Amino acid sequence: MATPEFVFLDGKILPYADAKVGVMTHGLNYGTGIFGGIRGYWNDKEKQMFIFRPLDHYKRFLESGKLLRMELPYTKESLTQFTIDLIRKQGYKETVYIRPLAFYGDELIGVRLHNLTPKMAIAIVPFGRYIDSPGAHVTISSWRRVDDNIIPARGKVVGAYVNSALAKTDAQLAGFDEAIVLDQSGHVSEGSAENIIMMRNGVFVTPPITENILEGITRRTVLQLIQDELGMTVQERSIDRTELYLADEIFFVGSGVQIVPITKIDFRSIGSGVIGPNTKKIMDLYFEAVHGNLQKYRSWCVKVY
Ligand SMILES: Cc1ncc(COP(=O)(O)O)c(C=O)c1O
Repeated sequence: MATPEFVFLDGKILPYADAKVGVMTHGLNYGTGIFGGIRGYWNDKEKQMFIFRPLDHYKRFLESGKLLRMELPYTKESLTQFTIDLIRKQGYKETVYIRPLAFYGDELIGVRLHNLTPKMAIAIVPFGRYIDSPGAHVTISSWRRVDDNIIPARGKVVGAYVNSALAKTDAQLAGFDEAIVLDQSGHVSEGSAENIIMMRNGVFVTPPITENILEGITRRTVLQLIQDELGMTVQERSIDRTELYLADEIFFVGSGVQIVPITKIDFRSIGSGVIGPNTKKIMDLYFEAVHGNLQKYRSWCVKVY
């Protein structure tokens, strides 16, 4: 993947090559940073780029910062405007991934969260599919999810993604597309970088936000679509590992992954082993919504041009 031509750094748009950090940077040494992942969707019919739910993403971003005692001189509105400016500057006319990142930029030795100064960057790159498979074969990871009292999973904390990377790499090197990670009590938490929703006996179920998951914007979006468009209910409750094996349908949701059906877990077919009918309906609705094609949900989409 090529690096972008320009980035946002501490209030200014700079050429990518000029946005540098030193090797002693706190965030690099101790993982004391937070980030986000947002998509901007190109709608070719309207010749328009829609950023999907940037205010919700930046609200969570600032909340992640709060968990690390970061005082950032930005609001969710100002960060959305900087994002629009940066897309316009590069003139993107294709679907992009937006990566905001804030980290303690002090170059010193000392593990802590106080008396430090954050830096804030945004980089934007063209981006296609994250999991390149129409139906994913996933494994239950032997790694456990970071706990709220270890590193809070509800914050998108840089250092915590070592947990995700351990799970993802072991899954991929073993031939799977992705990992599902359990929490300390053995209940289903989420994927390495996506939330999970299953349908069992005709009812949609997803782990609650107290089960060491990231409070996903796509999860929230899809739960609303299930209720409002399919007229079905969703239970937020703990999920046992073996319930997954017996589910009718399961899928991952996330800004990067978008919606990916899980058709096999550890060599066991889920439902009939192909994309389920409800998953298909939700995927269709989601893709229409994010491209700004559903009038009812147009307020989720922020225009760039
Ligand atoms: C661990 C984890 N869970 C879930 C998600 C999905 O969150 P969202 O839908 O807000 O992108 C992500 C994506 O960034 C993630 O990293």
